[in-house]
Amino acid sequence: MKRHAALSTVVAAAFVAAGALHAAEGDPAAGKAKTSMCAGCHGIGGYKTAFPEVYSVPKLGGQHAAYIVKALQAYKSGERAHPSMRAIAAGLSEKEMADLAAYYASDTARSAAK
Ligand code: HEC
Repeated sequence: MKRHAALSTVVAAAFVAAGALHAAEGDPAAGKAKTSMCAGCHGIGGYKTAFPEVYSVPKLGGQHAAYIVKALQAYKSGERAHPSMRAIAAGLSEKEMADLAAYYASDTARSAAK
């Protein structure tokens, strides 16, 4: 009986994990619609921000989606400390992060960022 309960816990955990994976799948079209908040800094070749200090802005087009989501989560949690990105990421939901990442990882964004 005990064993059975343990097994169903494992099965339930697997379902939760699968659900989380699915939720993390972004929609590139929805992501593209949100890039207006990002395009002012990202996506301009060689662009540097002037605030809070002169800083090179990394290119996002062609980056792996999982890396982008992880980076955004790290800004939101404070693990990454850049002030502008922290403010931006703080306002993004998990779904928005996944959508944005799916867009930036797509071929369209890769060629647009050339
Ligand atoms: C005010 C300018 C600015 C805006 C607007 C902005 N970013 Fe950033 N972003 C930066 C800078 C500067 C960095 C590098 C910070 C660092 O070194 O941690 C960065 C870093 C990142 C990184 C990490 C890249 C890497 O290679 O590690 C991601 C992902 C990112 N931004 C996504 C976004 C998204 C998505 C948006 C729109 C929702 C956005 N940014 C809006 C300036 C901006």
